[in-house]
Amino acid sequence: MSRVLITGIAGLFGANFSRYLIAKGYNVIGIDNLSGGYLENIPSGVDFYNIDLLDTHSISNIFKNTRPDYVYHFAAYAAVGLSHFIRNFNYQNNVIASVNLINECLRHNIEKIIFTSSMDVYGSGNPPYFESHVPKPEDPYGIAKLAIEQDLAAAHSQFGLRYSIIRPHNVFGLYQNIWDKYRNVIGIWIRQILEGMPITIYGDGTQVRSFSDIQFCMTPLSHLMSEFDGEIFNIGADQHITINELSDTLRGAAEGLGYSASTIHMEKRKEVHTAFCDHSKAKGYLEFEDKTNLTDLMTRMLKWARIQPKREVKMLNYEIDSGMYAYWRNE
Ligand SMILES: NC(=O)c1ccc[n+]([C@@H]2O[C@H](COP(=O)([O-])OP(=O)(O)OC[C@H]3O[C@@H](n4cnc5c(N)ncnc54)[C@H](O)[C@@H]3O)[C@@H](O)[C@H]2O)c1
Repeated sequence: MSRVLITGIAGLFGANFSRYLIAKGYNVIGIDNLSGGYLENIPSGVDFYNIDLLDTHSISNIFKNTRPDYVYHFAAYAAVGLSHFIRNFNYQNNVIASVNLINECLRHNIEKIIFTSSMDVYGSGNPPYFESHVPKPEDPYGIAKLAIEQDLAAAHSQFGLRYSIIRPHNVFGLYQNIWDKYRNVIGIWIRQILEGMPITIYGDGTQVRSFSDIQFCMTPLSHLMSEFDGEIFNIGADQHITINELSDTLRGAAEGLGYSASTIHMEKRKEVHTAFCDHSKAKGYLEFEDKTNLTDLMTRMLKWARIQPKREVKMLNYEIDSGMYAYWRNE
């Protein structure tokens, strides 16, 4: 059976997709520096390396020793709004680290690499976003994702590297980091509910997004191992919802488990107001079907979250303070 290397294996995509591949009999090798994921998320059976992708020497040794056939590159720090304030870190962690990995893929002649980009590459164009739209990212995170999309195209044209790209948006589920102060709105709210705090909404809550269950990404990701070289696919929910409606849905799920939570509105963040994608390409080619039941998944996440160990909520070191929102200031 093929050997599949997954970067970011301790995070949401990595923890879920590694379980999917192991159940299908693949040999899974995992890399993660545990900056945003947790050791407990990694299933047994994974050949795991606690390594930072910026450590070129160690990455090179892992490739030499494990000889992966396929690489799924999920590792990143995905904080859209915060990326303006951690510019150097963002580009190191999301661009240079990815380039290190791509170099090893080239040196070791792997079969194919699959990269998780983001809907963020579209910027604030008119939704729904189609894969054919010209990307215009508006923050360093989206710029980093687009840089790697373009680097993969260049590596294909120069060296013949095979690759495919997915652009997910607002995917959530078990093993998502709920202790990150800066990202994963549903994760942040679940932590706040379990800690008896009000849930926080940035601005008036009329922002529109689409939230989907990670389980529906598994089949599409597996198709990309052998098919659709050079193609890009949007992945996410068709159903749009405002942030206010999302918070009502989560509070409803929490009430079903005996928790009650109020809501508070905080300073508006600079962000795209309405963002969602068209998924007909993924539905047509990758058997993608989004059947997300928000209340059901939120209930399962709450049940999972309340039995997790209590974990520290970390603050990051900001490189730029100018215009920092009050709720993110290091006091
Ligand atoms: N979840 C979503 O809705 C979503 C949406 C768009 C794009 N994406 C992209 O999909 C990928 C997976 O997202 P996720 O939700 O699983 O994120 P996640 O934060 O849950 O997982 C990312 C993992 O990568 C690890 N990591 C980060 N930097 C690393 C480094 N330098 N070296 C080694 N490991 C490192 C983290 O410790 C973490 O476990 C990311 O690239 C993200 O940008 C996710």
